[in-house]
Amino acid sequence: MDIKPNGNTNVIPPRLSTKIILFTSCKGGVGKSTVCANLAMAVAKRNRRVLLIDCDFGNRCLDLVAGFSESVVYDISDVVFNKIDCKNAILQDKRCENLYFIAAPHGFDHCMELSAFRHAVRKLTEAGNFDFVFIDTPGGIGEPLNFAAGVADTAYIVVEPTRAAIRAAERTSDFLALRGVGKRRLIVNKLAGGSVRKAKKEIISIIDTTSVKLHGVIPYDPELIFAGNKGVLVDEMLSFNVTNAFDNLAARTLGEGRRLFANIKRLRKLK
Ligand SMILES: Nc1ncnc2c1ncn2[C@@H]1O[C@H](COP(=O)(O)OP(=O)(O)OP(=O)(O)O)[C@@H](O)[C@H]1O
Ligand SMILES: [Mg+2]
Repeated sequence: MDIKPNGNTNVIPPRLSTKIILFTSCKGGVGKSTVCANLAMAVAKRNRRVLLIDCDFGNRCLDLVAGFSESVVYDISDVVFNKIDCKNAILQDKRCENLYFIAAPHGFDHCMELSAFRHAVRKLTEAGNFDFVFIDTPGGIGEPLNFAAGVADTAYIVVEPTRAAIRAAERTSDFLALRGVGKRRLIVNKLAGGSVRKAKKEIISIIDTTSVKLHGVIPYDPELIFAGNKGVLVDEMLSFNVTNAFDNLAARTLGEGRRLFANIKRLRKLK
């Protein structure tokens, strides 16, 4: 595997501007892994080097959602405990050369310390000269989220339009604020209900309740469920609503001005 920087040869300088973003909510099943993996692909497609780290220790599934499950041998605990060189732990995506992945261990080793985890993430970041590191976290407020919060500068809090998920988003934001994650943004996932105008009202109410600024929106689309089961990402999907939504999110992640619902047509009606 080649993890040299684009167009460079041997020495890899540390990229001081790497953005480390964690994807979280203390509510399970809201779409953290789905959004994390697909946004990583959408950003990588825009020619940025992205490392996906699965921090769902003990219940890993990002390898399945992102299509790496057949290739995983090592995981991030092997890097934390210095069992292997980090270059051997990182997998390069076969579909997009800018996308890389490292798996979570099957269980959480309580000997793992935050300082060692931080060191491992720094080594991984420098080894691949990544522009972005995306960290997927499990539901709940536990050690993995603590670890991710200890290395990330930004949190994308994934929320779906249900009261339980909205309350969880508020709680997650408070938890992250206490741990020094200064930039916290909402991604409203699984938006449905027919019209965009109606959805906008719902979004305003979510922002109002959580007091967290909005980063972007993803519509509800069953194609994401089928894709998640097959390890297919947004680059291979057919739904324009989904591909455009992730492209909007990628543009906004890169700081480009992009309307929230640009190229998103009617939302699905849920029965
Ligand atoms: N926008 C969407 N439209 C339709 N289904 C979605 C969407 N986003 C996610 N899903 C589906 O919701 C389910 C949960 O998604 P996912 O596993 O990404 O959530 P999670 O928050 O990572 O869950 P966990 O807390 O277990 O880690 C999956 O079946 C996934 O395919
Ligand atoms: Mg998940």
